[in-house]
Amino acid sequence: MAKSLKESPLGTQVVSNEFFVERYKNVRSFTEQLCEPLVTEDYVIQSMPDVSPTKWHLAHVTWFWETFLLTPADADYKCLHPQYAYLFNSYYNTLGERHCRPNRGLISRPTVEETYQYRAYVDEHVISLLEKLDERRLVELTPIFTLGLHHEQQHQELMLTDIKHVLSNNPLYPTYKSRVSTNAARVAPLEWVSFPESLDWIGHEGGGFSFDNESPRHRQFVQSFQLASRLVTNGEYMEFMEDGGYKNPLLWLSEGWATVNQEEWEAPLYWEKRDGRWWMMTLSGFREVEKAEPVCHVSYFEADAYARWADARLPTEAEWEIAVKDVPVEGNFVDDGLFHPAPLSAATTSGKLAQMYGDVWEWTQSSYSPYPGFKPAAGAVGEYNGKFMCNQYVLRGGSCATSLSHIRPTYRNFFPSNAQWQFMGMRLAREV
Ligand SMILES: [Fe+2]
Repeated sequence: MAKSLKESPLGTQVVSNEFFVERYKNVRSFTEQLCEPLVTEDYVIQSMPDVSPTKWHLAHVTWFWETFLLTPADADYKCLHPQYAYLFNSYYNTLGERHCRPNRGLISRPTVEETYQYRAYVDEHVISLLEKLDERRLVELTPIFTLGLHHEQQHQELMLTDIKHVLSNNPLYPTYKSRVSTNAARVAPLEWVSFPESLDWIGHEGGGFSFDNESPRHRQFVQSFQLASRLVTNGEYMEFMEDGGYKNPLLWLSEGWATVNQEEWEAPLYWEKRDGRWWMMTLSGFREVEKAEPVCHVSYFEADAYARWADARLPTEAEWEIAVKDVPVEGNFVDDGLFHPAPLSAATTSGKLAQMYGDVWEWTQSSYSPYPGFKPAAGAVGEYNGKFMCNQYVLRGGSCATSLSHIRPTYRNFFPSNAQWQFMGMRLAREV
C-alpha cells in the first residue's frame, strides 16, 4: 500500500490507496443513492433532447471510468460489452462513433438491472486497480481519477435536473422526495454591496482539482460595481411578470424576444397558473409558488430581461469571482437533501453577500470563452470543456443539486441562453 504526503490535484493530503478507494466508493454510492426514490419505469424516459434517461447517466459515467482509467491503466481489463462504448460515449469524437443523443430514450436494452451490473463490474475492477497501485502510479493517475469523480458528480446533478423534467411531464406530478419544510421566512431586504475598481486575479490558483476551463489564472480589470446581497426571489420575479415583463419587447435581447414568442413563454419553466395563482413542479411534487424562494429555471434571456426591468444588469464572471473572495463555500447543496432553492432568512444578511453558493446557478453576462492562454488537454479528454466555448453563457456558484465537494470559487458552468431546465437563477449587479 502506497502512502505519502503529496501536493496533488486533490490538494495537499495523504495519497494512499485507501483514500482513493474511499473517495471512489463515496461518489459512486451517492449516484445510486440519488436513484433510490425512482421506479424502474422512471429510468428510461427522455422527455426532451437535452434530457438523458437516468439509466443512460448511470451507464455513461461508468463508461467514462472504463475508458479513461481502467483501459489505459490495467492491461488485463476487458470491457464488459463491446457495444457499450457506442451507446454510452457522450460527445468524444476522438473515441469513435456513438449513438444519437436525442434517441437515448429509445433504448430498452441494456435493462436497468443490466446497467447496475455494468456499474458493479466496473466498480470491482476500479477498486482492485486502486488497491494495487504503487505510489508512483497513484500520483500519475490522480488527475484522471479526480476528473472521473468530478465528472460523476456533474452527472449526479444532471440526473436530478433531468428526472425533474421527466416527472414534470406526468400529469400526476409524481414526487421524487417529500418536502422538507424550509420555514419560508420574511424575505431578507435586498442590499447593495459595493466593490472598488480593481485589477485582480481570477482563475484557478492550482493546489487542488479544477477543470481546464478555469485556467490560466490571469488578471482582469473591473470598474467599481455593486452586487445584490441575495438572489432574486419568486415574489420579485412575479412583479416583473405582472408588469408585463414577458410582453414588452424593449426589455429583451432580439433572440430572447424571438424565443419568448416562439416558445410562448410567460413564466419560468415548471410554473403553471391555476385559478389565478402560480403553482410549480418541484422534486417534491406540484405546489404553490412561494414568494420568498429564489426564482429558478429561468433562461439567460429571462434573467437578462428581468435585470433590465429592475434597472440593473447581470454581473460579469470576473465581478462574481472577485466578490466571492472572502465568502466561505457554504449554502444549500444536494448534500442538504432539499432538492430545491431555499428562502433566505432576513436575519442572515446585514450588508453581506448571501446565497453566493448553492440554491441556484447564477447567470452571468459573460460569454463562455477561453481564458487568455487556455489550452485544452491533449487527447480525448481535451474534448471535455474547450470545444463548447461558443454560444453559451457562464453560470457561477452551484445549486441545490450540486455537491458541496464539487464546487469552487473559480468553477465555470455554462449553458446556452435559452436553457431553463437546470437549477438556474440570478443575482443583480449594477454600476456604482
Ligand atoms: Fe459526461
